[in-house]
Amino acid sequence: MPSRSRRVPTSPRRVLVTGAASGLGLALVRTFVARGDHVLATDLHSERPDGLPSGAAYLPLDVRSDGAWADALAHVRETWGGLDLLVNNAGVAAGGRIDVATMQEWEWIVDINLLGVVRGCRTFTPLLKEQGNGHIVNTASLAGLVHAPGMAAYNTVKAGVVALSETLSHELAPHGIDVSVVCPSFFRTNLGASFQGADTEMEEAGKRMVSRSRRSADQVAQVVARGIDARRDVILTDREGHVAWRAKRFMRPAYTAVMKRAAAKRLGV
Ligand SMILES: NC(=O)c1ccc[n+]([C@@H]2O[C@H](COP(=O)([O-])OP(=O)(O)OC[C@H]3O[C@@H](n4cnc5c(N)ncnc54)[C@H](O)[C@@H]3O)[C@@H](O)[C@H]2O)c1
Repeated sequence: MPSRSRRVPTSPRRVLVTGAASGLGLALVRTFVARGDHVLATDLHSERPDGLPSGAAYLPLDVRSDGAWADALAHVRETWGGLDLLVNNAGVAAGGRIDVATMQEWEWIVDINLLGVVRGCRTFTPLLKEQGNGHIVNTASLAGLVHAPGMAAYNTVKAGVVALSETLSHELAPHGIDVSVVCPSFFRTNLGASFQGADTEMEEAGKRMVSRSRRSADQVAQVVARGIDARRDVILTDREGHVAWRAKRFMRPAYTAVMKRAAAKRLGV
């Protein structure tokens, strides 16, 4: 599935990043600013968050709000007159067995992790079509490609982001617009703090996976930036991701056996 299309070296680019106050979003903002791009960082906070590089502008944007997306589009049109790169990165985490996690948790994560990305794509596609070029980059997860037990809601919304991105990469190609999806496995960020829900056991396991990962957000951002430059459809950021994704495609029985063993171990059945 990972593939490479044309290489388009454009800098400085006009870039909007969601979920830019922390973790991967912040690391991407730093990377883009360092290479001279014009960057609009956005996140939930009403005031400019600490830690953003001085070269980046800041705008509050809750990805659940249609009105906030409309404001962001108006800001981009007024300030830059266009946009080269939209990074739909904001996200939260949820872990929960199907009979433990509540419908409220499902609705919460669908609204942010899936519909937040849909809103971003819907808001900016008309502008990118007018331009006849642009690049949309959506942060999904390795969980969108391979589906470990005990985290159905997270896996489902991330698989939705993968499907949305692939669909749009086909649909928008005739308009000169590229679409990429980023699929990292666990790396160290503040994502663990967003866990909330009824399945506290799964939540603890998820938090441990994030906090104990060997990879930092900066390392992942470097790989993502190279994937964006190469206009890859699917940006896998680590060895685990490549191995797991290949195993699912080419060694399905072995993949299934590993997942079922993980379920028995992790869920104590
Ligand atoms: N850290 C990991 O192990 C990992 C692995 C795979 C994918 N991801 C994905 O990477 C993306 C970034 O997460 P991170 O790990 O950097 O976590 P993080 O918690 O450090 O950063 C996420 C940011 O998103 C923001 N955010 C949350 N809800 C929002 C909303 N409604 N509107 C706007 N912003 C909102 C938060 O305020 C925060 O700044 C997420 O989509 C996450 O699912 C993370």
